[in-house]
Amino acid sequence: MSKPAMSLPRLCIVATGGTIAGAGVRPQTTMAYAAGALDVDELCARVPGLDEVAGIQAEQFAAIDSKNATPAFWQSLAARVQALLDAGGCDGVVVTHGTDTLEETAYYLHLVLKTDKPVVLVGAMRPATALSPDGPLNLLDAVTVAAHPQAAGRGVLVVLNHQVLGARDAAKTNANRPDAFASPNAGAMGWVQDGRVAWMGWPGHGHTRATPFTASTPLAPVEVLAGYAGGSAALIRAVGATGAKGLVWAGTGNGSASADAQEALDELVRDGVVVVRATRTGSGCVAASGGMPGAGTLSPWKARVLLMLALGAGMGGVQDVFDTY
Ligand code: SIN
Repeated sequence: MSKPAMSLPRLCIVATGGTIAGAGVRPQTTMAYAAGALDVDELCARVPGLDEVAGIQAEQFAAIDSKNATPAFWQSLAARVQALLDAGGCDGVVVTHGTDTLEETAYYLHLVLKTDKPVVLVGAMRPATALSPDGPLNLLDAVTVAAHPQAAGRGVLVVLNHQVLGARDAAKTNANRPDAFASPNAGAMGWVQDGRVAWMGWPGHGHTRATPFTASTPLAPVEVLAGYAGGSAALIRAVGATGAKGLVWAGTGNGSASADAQEALDELVRDGVVVVRATRTGSGCVAASGGMPGAGTLSPWKARVLLMLALGAGMGGVQDVFDTY
């Protein structure tokens, strides 16, 4: 790592691909492009002033479209980030990531990393070659947040479009717009603009050092199914045959299920599959019902991450786990 000017923090940028590193054929193209085409040095070179905020060490960890992220990818990324944080000479990590599954990777890292140092995930909605790409400013903002003295101890953060969001609550809520990310239940944890960070909140649940999980915790197979009018109960029954240990039910409204679906969910529970109730609505809080724990304010996708870890770690008391993390 290059020696930064005195008093600048030393940050590692770990690039994994995504639209932030995407390249399209024409500047007008914001949907047809290859994700993860630019390498991390090119990404950094497009951000004037980056080295005035922190001493930067950059590495290319992967170059994927995040729809192809897997649990094995989460684990190896977490192991790499943990190693950088533990090695010394690194005051925090910024991970560049595709936005499609950024919220899942962020929450996974939030649960398994053992650190108080800042870890910030950042992406972009427009490829680097677009007429007005959002990636360069998002990256500068993410580094600014990771370099901020009050970023420590908050767990993993997500920075896009000037907002600082907590990893537990951040969600992609729009398919196209640069303001796609929000925390529908918790609101923003901070704001970053013109090099200044304003903090507005603190995580309300246990994370990082306060969890029993690490990058080595096995991840149990867990599926997600959604409720909708006329949905087939056969799909729910089929989950048992996949070998899944858990199912997150993204139910209608307050996690509800039709009479047919409920019967099939009850059968799964009797067969030993842990079914966690969540909501397909995008916000709100779902409670336990009928022997099925409630995901609380976690989205179905994040409930899946937590259930994979909890079952992988052999933990009982699933409702307690959901209330705590
Ligand atoms: C991806 O998730 O890798 C592609 C989409 C994006 O980054 O916005």
